[in-house]
Amino acid sequence: MKKNKYNISIIGTGFVGLVSSAVFAHLGHNVLGIDIDEKKIQSIKKGKVPFFEPKLEDLLKQGLKNKNLDFTTDFSKIKDSDIIIISVGTPKGKDGHVDLSFVFSAFESILPFAKKDAIVAIKSTVPPDTISKIKQKFNKQIQEKNLHLVYLPEFLKEGSAVDDTLFPDRIVIGSNDKYAIDILKDLHKPLSKNILVVKPESSQLIKYTANSYLALRITYINEIADICEKVGADIQEVIKGIGYDKRIGHHYWYPGLGYGGSCFPKDVKELALLSKDIGLKNNIIQKIDEINSKRIDKIIKKIERIIGSFENKTIAILGLSFKPNTNDTREAPAVHIIPKLLDKKAKIKAYDPMAHIDIKDNNYTQKQSIEKTIENADIIFILIEWPEIINYNFPYTNKKVIFFDSRNQFNKQDIEKKGYKYIGIGR
Ligand code: UDX
Repeated sequence: MKKNKYNISIIGTGFVGLVSSAVFAHLGHNVLGIDIDEKKIQSIKKGKVPFFEPKLEDLLKQGLKNKNLDFTTDFSKIKDSDIIIISVGTPKGKDGHVDLSFVFSAFESILPFAKKDAIVAIKSTVPPDTISKIKQKFNKQIQEKNLHLVYLPEFLKEGSAVDDTLFPDRIVIGSNDKYAIDILKDLHKPLSKNILVVKPESSQLIKYTANSYLALRITYINEIADICEKVGADIQEVIKGIGYDKRIGHHYWYPGLGYGGSCFPKDVKELALLSKDIGLKNNIIQKIDEINSKRIDKIIKKIERIIGSFENKTIAILGLSFKPNTNDTREAPAVHIIPKLLDKKAKIKAYDPMAHIDIKDNNYTQKQSIEKTIENADIIFILIEWPEIINYNFPYTNKKVIFFDSRNQFNKQDIEKKGYKYIGIGR
């Protein structure tokens, strides 16, 4: 049943769902985005993206204008969909494991309306036994409609989500169902030459392994940075030196305050738990999260050793999102650091070009500019490498202000020439 244009429904209008909806519409398919949040849908229908993601608004508006992209809360409208993609959230549950209730309820909501032979692709990041669990719960209805359940993991990064979806490194289809595989290969043909068809379980392991390996890489370089500080080496020189080894490379090696965001912390925890559940003890995956979650306390202690105490110090925090080009603050360094510094009786002024952190405390304010934030600060914390922050021409000072460059973005000599005391990571 290969077609030029597929009818696609995408359940969930978060980062993954909304970007995928706009991209498949851009490729000419008829796309319906569905969410249970009426207010959000109304706003998306007007062309408003509910978060900051470069290039997405243009693509969304283009699809709405071309009338091959629409949004609704009404699940009955999926009745003509050839492909239904589930991309709802999978937050961390109470027991530490990922909470699959949104995936199950999305599946239950589509069941009465899905047409016979529809493909149901799970894009949400889920443990490898999720399709089996869905089949156990809804076996009768799945059989009656001959639904084709597959995994279709997503690898996009926030901040470059549109390009990552238009030009993905690879597409992974987790299935052994020939009908679904042929159609999904056809759908993704314009996007990538690297379309991998693998066992369903392997596809989710690919997703978890990729994320936990990248998290491990960050954790590893952060540990090496600590060694550099003790032995008088410079982590940036070490990275340069190791990177020429083609097996290692120069990319994705930036030391800092540890990884954050909506995926790495959650996915590393899930893989660690999964490995524990199957009887593996003390493996490296279980250590990644433990080390990463202690990183901020370690760095605060390091700065405290240099300055004495944070009490009554005015601290300018620059960068509140978890990385540049997004207003997402989930597991951002600022979210962890600010309350700790407030506990230590510091006065915080914060700035971010896009993100906002609302803290009700007389000692916390968010300012509208870098200039206002650093005014009279005793310490400047560069938390996120937003272009506006790293290109800012910091003024000369005669107060020996501490300049903490947590992303190693500045030249130590240049900053010290201006009168600051520079502290980097691993140097
Ligand atoms: C990540 C994966 O990269 C993506 O493939 C997956 O689909 C979702 O999770 P994302 O969370 O958007 O994407 O951001 P990414 O750019 O990978 O950064 C994740 C975290 O690692 C951020 O906190 C970032 O600051 C940190 N990081 C990244 C480092 O500390 N050092 C690095 O070298 C790279």
